[in-house]
Amino acid sequence: MRINPLSTLQGKFTLYVSALIVVIMTGLSWGVISRERRLMEDAIVREGVALAESLAISCTNTMIYEEVGLVDESGLLDNYISDLMKRKGLPIRYAMVLDPQGSVIAHSSAKEEGRSFRDSITGRALSSPLTLLQYPSPDLLDISAPLAISSKRWGTLRIGISLEDMRNELSALAWKYTFYTAGFIMMAIIVTGFLLGLLTGPLKLLSEEMDTMKVREGLPSPSLVRRDEIGSLYRSFHRMMKRIKSDEEERERTQRALYLTEKMVAIGKLTAGMAHEINNPLGGILNCIYHFKKGGQSAEQRNEYLDLMEDGVRRIQRRVTDLLEYARSPSLERSATDFRSLVERTLALLDYQIQQNRISVVQEIPEVLPPIEIDKDQMGQVLLNILLNAVQAMPDGGVLEISVQILAEQLIIEVSDTGAGIPEEIAPNVFDPFFTTKPDGKGTGLGLWLSQQIVERHGGTIRVAGREKQGATVRISIPLTSKGAL
Ligand SMILES: Nc1ncnc2c1ncn2[C@@H]1O[C@H](COP(=O)(O)OP(=O)(O)O)[C@@H](O)[C@H]1O
Ligand SMILES: [Mg+2]
Repeated sequence: MRINPLSTLQGKFTLYVSALIVVIMTGLSWGVISRERRLMEDAIVREGVALAESLAISCTNTMIYEEVGLVDESGLLDNYISDLMKRKGLPIRYAMVLDPQGSVIAHSSAKEEGRSFRDSITGRALSSPLTLLQYPSPDLLDISAPLAISSKRWGTLRIGISLEDMRNELSALAWKYTFYTAGFIMMAIIVTGFLLGLLTGPLKLLSEEMDTMKVREGLPSPSLVRRDEIGSLYRSFHRMMKRIKSDEEERERTQRALYLTEKMVAIGKLTAGMAHEINNPLGGILNCIYHFKKGGQSAEQRNEYLDLMEDGVRRIQRRVTDLLEYARSPSLERSATDFRSLVERTLALLDYQIQQNRISVVQEIPEVLPPIEIDKDQMGQVLLNILLNAVQAMPDGGVLEISVQILAEQLIIEVSDTGAGIPEEIAPNVFDPFFTTKPDGKGTGLGLWLSQQIVERHGGTIRVAGREKQGATVRISIPLTSKGAL
């Protein structure tokens, strides 16, 4: 299974930390860059204004002298401007002296000589009585200083300072911060990867152990020794498994004890049944012996007594033989068994009675059943007992239905008939040994008792259902993965 990396703890953590770094670094770099920009711009403005104002004084002086005829201006203003352009420091793009109408008196670029400026920037520069800062384009600062003394005005000095260097410096700074942000994110990924590896590694180990640990097979000794919270989670898990194991053992002990109790009850019932079966004929025999002792019988009577005694002894012998016969094989010999053919073979044994009673048989058995690990002789006997009961319950015909299916790891066998059914009052007793409602010679009362023993030895259960006059259903279920009786 492919895991979406963002659904892991590590993925989520890295994502959140990266987002946090981006937000913090963006805020930080924005603050730093705008502060830097302010400082740089302030420095440029301060130096530019000082330069413009001091040059304006020289230019004004020159123009006054010229007006009063003290000097000939021609060349002086141009000198000032070319001196200014040669200065190191501020990146000055242009400098010019304009007369009050905007015509160039002197200009740093010879091309502009004789030109007259009419634009709005020039307009504002010409009309401002004070030094004026204007931005004709984002990377150009225009400083204009009036050439005036009180209300008398000779013109305006304009200096253009390029802000391109400043902008380049600022964008380099922005790049630097972007680079730092990327670096921090990389570091965060590596560090959170490492830290979460410390956290998720042992969690993975724990979950693998949880998946593979089997309580029955004994607990492995803890493979993780840590003093932190994960270690304590791990120890709690091991303690929990120990508790589960001891609960499981306790449950098994109780079950074993219960099983023994049930066995004792079964043996009790069996001996009580045996005692009853033997006591009855013994009573008859004792009665005969009592009469013999009294004496005085005719030969005919004595023969009659002897016959009765023989009859009683034979009955006892038959009961004992029946019991021995039925209880012959106490241990299971499991082998892979084709249950479908086991049913066929058992039905074949009952063929004669089925025909005689005009019973129709309906089978619902899947064509392919996986081989089932059971003791086939004993389960054959169970089937025979159940089917025989059904056949005996339908002396005047009916339908015998056998269904076999596998449901939830259980083999389920259901045998239904349309006979007289089982009256409610005897239903609790049908599994008791020697319990029978059939005439002597037809029923021993051991069939269902023995079937129950065998089914339980396979780890399964057997139930009868069906009310009086509605037929009976016997349902057997045997676990496929059964470990058998305890
Ligand atoms: N299919 C059935 N229909 C009606 N009664 C049944 C059926 N199966 C069992 N019983 C009742 O359960 C009793 C006990 O059955 P079982 O232990 O096989 O002994 P038996 O068949 O020798 O009487 C039967 O005598 C009968 O009363
Ligand atoms: Mg029977």
